[in-house]
Amino acid sequence: MILFKRAEDLTGWLREQRSGGKSIGFVPTMGALHPGHISLIDISKKSAEITVCSVFVNPTQFNDPKDFQKYPITIEKDIFLLEKAGTDALFLPEAVELYPGGTKDLEKYELGRLETLLEGKYRPGHFQGVCQVMRRLLDIVAPDDLFMGQKDYQQCMVVARLLHLMKSSTRLHPCPIVREADGLAMSSRNMRLTEREREKAPAIYRALTLVKEEWGKPGVLSRARAILEENGFRIDYVEIADAGTLEPVDDGIGAGSRQKRAVVLVAAFLGEIRLIDNILL
Ligand code: PAJ
Repeated sequence: MILFKRAEDLTGWLREQRSGGKSIGFVPTMGALHPGHISLIDISKKSAEITVCSVFVNPTQFNDPKDFQKYPITIEKDIFLLEKAGTDALFLPEAVELYPGGTKDLEKYELGRLETLLEGKYRPGHFQGVCQVMRRLLDIVAPDDLFMGQKDYQQCMVVARLLHLMKSSTRLHPCPIVREADGLAMSSRNMRLTEREREKAPAIYRALTLVKEEWGKPGVLSRARAILEENGFRIDYVEIADAGTLEPVDDGIGAGSRQKRAVVLVAAFLGEIRLIDNILL
């Protein structure tokens, strides 16, 4: 694996690969890697000839400064895992490399309703930050294929929109959520849970599974909420939404709503840690 710190060097190397006819797959991350991230590398390696991963904790997407300061950094382990997975290149830039003019006057993106629904509503500015960093990374890597996790369902939709706005030919591949044995979706933030919180955390998966199994029965969302509350969660939202637009779908009572493709999404705090998860219905 080749490690690049400078955008220019990575771009030059990728130009050589491309002129040799090789396709480029890209997996952007913020590090503190776990098997969920590595699954994206594995999927990329199956369809692209060169796999590039980036590790950069992007300051512009954190609406909570404490969350940014405490974001886990495990770069030596990350390098080890990426190397073991057969990643071809790791891009590990400093902030000045991505934001040479600072972060004050970055472009704003027209994201429509995505910015006011669900994560957009609870994390103001977050998706602008995601677009700002993704724009830079996509300009630098210019991948044929981009691999991202459905764990961040709305982020996948935002990035699809960004690619459209950029008139980019990069293909986005949303990839399945990797879970722990007890159902908890893998996340870099899980390592910040206390032992007791970690025991409670799989309640998210139980709540989502309940909605999947009982969608259409009256009061299913209230029962899902109750599972979370009994386990000490502070809920931002538990919602059934249209899988294509994220507009809310009602509780599922009535035949009409079950015919739509829908997704149930949760965001909730355990102590200081905010966890998100979702399941397609
Ligand atoms: P990060 O949270 O590090 O996630 C990097 C990628 O891994 C994202 O596409 C995310 O959806 C995916 N991922 C995380 N947990 C997963 C799991 N359990 N199963 C499958 N995929 C999983 O998302 C970001 O970083 C940033 O917002 C980024 C896109 C890098 C921009 O800064």
